[in-house]
Parts: sequence; structure tokens; C-alpha cells
Amino acid sequence: MAKNQNWNSSLGFILASAGSAIGLGAIWKFPYIAGQYGGGAFLLEFVLFTLIIGLPLLMTEFSIGQTGSTYSTAIFGKLTTNKITNGIGYLGNITAFILYSFYSVIGGWIIIFIGYYLLRSVGLVKEDIGFFPYMTASPWLSLLGQFLFIAMTGHIVSSGIENGIEKASKMMMPLLLLLFLIIVVRSLTLDGAMAGVKYFLVPRFEDLSIEGTLYAMGQSFFALSLGTTGMITYASYTKQETNIFSSAGWIVMMNLLVSVLAGLAIFPAASALGIKAEAGPGLLFIVLPQLFSKLTFGTGFYILFLILFLFAALTSSISLLELNLSNVIKGRENKRRSAALWLSLAVFIAGIPAALSFGVLNKVKFGAGTIFDNMDFMVTNIMMPLGVLLTTLFAGYAMKPEQLERVIPKGFHFWYALIRYVLPVVIIIVFISQLIS
Ligand code: PFF
Repeated sequence: MAKNQNWNSSLGFILASAGSAIGLGAIWKFPYIAGQYGGGAFLLEFVLFTLIIGLPLLMTEFSIGQTGSTYSTAIFGKLTTNKITNGIGYLGNITAFILYSFYSVIGGWIIIFIGYYLLRSVGLVKEDIGFFPYMTASPWLSLLGQFLFIAMTGHIVSSGIENGIEKASKMMMPLLLLLFLIIVVRSLTLDGAMAGVKYFLVPRFEDLSIEGTLYAMGQSFFALSLGTTGMITYASYTKQETNIFSSAGWIVMMNLLVSVLAGLAIFPAASALGIKAEAGPGLLFIVLPQLFSKLTFGTGFYILFLILFLFAALTSSISLLELNLSNVIKGRENKRRSAALWLSLAVFIAGIPAALSFGVLNKVKFGAGTIFDNMDFMVTNIMMPLGVLLTTLFAGYAMKPEQLERVIPKGFHFWYALIRYVLPVVIIIVFISQLIS
């Protein structure tokens, strides 16, 4: 997407931002973190954070993007004439770069899984439920997957993201939802599914913890692509008449829907199959193959699911790459290809330790766990909330209210009071309680 170009339509913008939001966060990450932090209690916190903080923040990022209409390391300074505020843009870019480097590891797993199930369906490899540990233990497979994922993302971004993605999203997203509905029904009808449903939907307040709360807040930002300037970048490509207000509402609702569907697919099946909800990052990759094997044409459906899942992950990774790239090329479109190539190479190198964290480097543990866990913790629980906090303070205190009122005409005063007084306080409280505990 060229800096001086716009989305073809408002729908294009909504689909692209929904594509950025809905990805590994809702489908892969949400269920496994909910599994580690108490199921229902986590779901409740996540929904509250998404509606009370996520939605107004998404509107905030959209209004900064639409009003400022330039790349994200210059937009803050442009809106206030105070160049120091551009630091928020730099922080967002660093956050996105690190995020992309470990995001691509999981994206790579999907590609390797697709390859494996394709080979299996034509009888070239034997039936084997234990493929997940085999894949993650193999440095070559992990790195190959990561490389392919980054190469695909780079290819799409270097050839411009409007047309193909807009068209493909219109078809792929509804199909993904449909397939989710099918697997949710199958999951719910397994013997022993009820325990999982209860675990996921009924909050047990003794499961609430400060750490879980921080994760729930981080997850609500992660899933809406907040705090990286990704949404600011996409909104900077909108025409002034695009209604960002309703766009934000749609994106939040779709994102919540997909998260809940992912939970309803995974937890009932996990309890029926005797898989622990706390299984960690592998949860989805371990539960779903077994669930699909219980469906007629299961392997075919599973491959279709993996392809749609890959698509969802790619529409998020392209937003990560695009936001870094737009700041490198600064509108010089002739530099797009070479910038995409060099950035992709840098991300791949930065992501190698994360890719090896599940295999050869799995003994290297400190802080939050493996190298992968630490990168994720730093980005999701520290850098993104910090980015979000600074962005809110920026909109609430550095911008003029008239600049914002133009883009958010309805309920402006409520929203403005929220971003000035409520959100910063909530984010700071969650942060500080984590430090103290
Ligand atoms: N929202 C994406 C997901 O949930 O998978 C992750 C993400 C993409 C975060 C783009 C931040 C971003 F700028």
C-alpha cells in the first residue's frame, strides 16, 4: 500500500484491519493462555478489557492515523509539532519487529503442518499423532517453516497489499468462521465435552490472579494489534470520509467472536480427549488434529482449516511488516521491494532463537521461561501496554480535542473522558500491581 494511495473502499480498510487483528492471537494464543490462567476467569477479564479498554483505544489509534495521515515514526510529531512524541512511533516499530520475529515461528508451524498433512493424505508418511513434538524438536523444520512464512509475507507486502488481500479476505474470513462453527459443533458433541465448556465459560473467582490479569490485558491489546502503531498505519491510508467509529466496533466484535469460537472448539475437545488445558503453545496443534480425525473427511477438513488459519496469520503478519516498511521507505515506493527483502531477512535472523526455543534451545530458561516465552512476555505484557499507555496519553493530553472530535462525532465527550482519565489509570494500576507482586 503506497503512502500516497488509499484503500479502495471503506470495506477494504475494515477487512484489512480485521485481518490484522484476527490472527494467531485469537485462534492460537487466546485458548492456550486462557488454559493457563483459569479458563472462565480469564475469558471474563479478556472480554472486559477488550470492550472497556480495547475498543476506545482502537478508536484512538484510528483517529491518530486518519488525522495524521503519514508513517508512524513521524505522525505523532506532525500532530503536535513536538518531535519528541515521535518516540512513541519508534517504540511501536521496535515492538512490531520483535513481535513479527516470534510470530513467524508459529506461522511457520502452520505451513509445516499443511505440508505434513498433505503428504499424509497421499500416503507418503504414516499416520502419527505425535508430529507436533517431532516438528518443534527439529531445528530444520522449525526454521524452514519460519523462513517460508516470512517469505510469503514479504512477497505479498512487496507486491502491494490492497487488491489481492481485499478480495481474498472477503472469501476466506467467512469460510474460516463457517469451518469454526463445524468444529465447535463436533467438539461440543464429544463425550466428556461438558467439563471443558464449564472450564471455559464459567468464571471461578479463585482463579483470578494479578499475573492472569496482566496477561488478559496484554492479550486484549495483542489481539487488536494495539500499541505497535499497526492500526495507526492502516488508518493513515483511509480517506477522510471513512467512518472509523463503526469500523472499530466491527473489528472488536469479530475478534471477540473468533476468540470465543476458538475456545469453544478447543476446551471441550481437550477435556473429552484428556488433554490438559495448560498444555501451553502447542495446545491447538495437539487438540485439533485429534478433533478433526473424528470428523468424516477429517484430514481434508483439517487441511482446509490450516490453510484458512495460515491466511488469518498472514493478514496479521503483513500488517506487521507493512508498518516497519512504511517507516523505512517513507513514501518512496520504488524502494518497497528491496526494503521488504532486507526487513524480512533481518526478522528471520532475529527470530532464530525463538524458533529453536521449542527444540535445541528448550533448556535455556530464565524470567518468563524459554527465549520464545521471554520475547512474548516482553512484547505482550510490557512493550504493547507501554505503547498503548503512551498513545492514550498522547491523544488525551497532547492532541487538541478538536482534532479528535472531527473523526469521532458521536459520544465524543464520553470517549475523551475515558482516554484521558480512565484508561491510563487502569493500565498503570495493572502494571504496578504486577511489579509489586
Ligand atoms: N493481532 C494479531 C493477532 O492477534 O494475531 C497480532 C498483531 C498484528 C499484533 C499486528 C500487532 C500488530 F501490529
